Amino acid sequence: MSQSPEERLLSVDPPLFQLSEVGSTQNWLKERHRQSWLPHGAAVFADIQTEGRGRPGNRWTHRPGNLAMSILLHSDPAGTTFPWTLVVAHVVLSILEQTVGSGFGIKYPNDLYWMEPEAKVGGILVESSGEGSYFVGVGLNRQDPELPGAGAMIRKGRPLPPDPIELPKRLQEALLSPEGFAGIEPGLSNHLLWKDQWVVWSLPEGPGMGKVQGLDERGHLKLLFPDDASGTLPVQVRGIRKIDP
Ligand code: BTN
Repeated sequence: MSQSPEERLLSVDPPLFQLSEVGSTQNWLKERHRQSWLPHGAAVFADIQTEGRGRPGNRWTHRPGNLAMSILLHSDPAGTTFPWTLVVAHVVLSILEQTVGSGFGIKYPNDLYWMEPEAKVGGILVESSGEGSYFVGVGLNRQDPELPGAGAMIRKGRPLPPDPIELPKRLQEALLSPEGFAGIEPGLSNHLLWKDQWVVWSLPEGPGMGKVQGLDERGHLKLLFPDDASGTLPVQVRGIRKIDP
């Protein structure tokens, strides 16, 4: 007889659920909130995630030990004009820097990277409820999911990242910090993948090319264009790739 997946409530205010197995933590949290209202900061993580979703509409592959977590946020981030995608990236990078050390960065706008050699170790998926709330999904690879371009946070000769229970607790706590998110703009600008390098991207209005400069006060990506003009890209940009001009 097969056992049904277990659900544990690790803390109450706000709730933090641990599931032994789930299709997608993002879908689970949405459904749970639809059935019975959940407060700001309610979060869930799963030991096994079988149908994780990436952005935009991609699959997210999970290996046991990796982080698959979703958190419900009923407001925009406190004390910053940056959107949740970047605030979460900043918070995750700060936790990894404190625990593992330097070497992590962000590929704008939602990919968490090991910088050298380049490998994607995590991703952030923010979905709006349409009513001022957000479901924020975070996937982080402790173990390498063995996909092209992906990598692991666990690396030979480095301290281990926080374990699969400590990491969601720390993330939930940090995202609810009453201090807000001071220092995010210089913090993230200093962790941008491909800073001062040429990239291409796609937006509904078409593709473009520019040199990555940093972030502006709203968290838009600052660029220098080939004609020496400057401009910004919004957080909705997709498919940024480095090129040799
Ligand atoms: C991306 O890089 O495209 C975003 C990946 C987000 C994956 C996480 S894992 C936890 C949460 N549940 C999901 O189904 N997806 C997100």
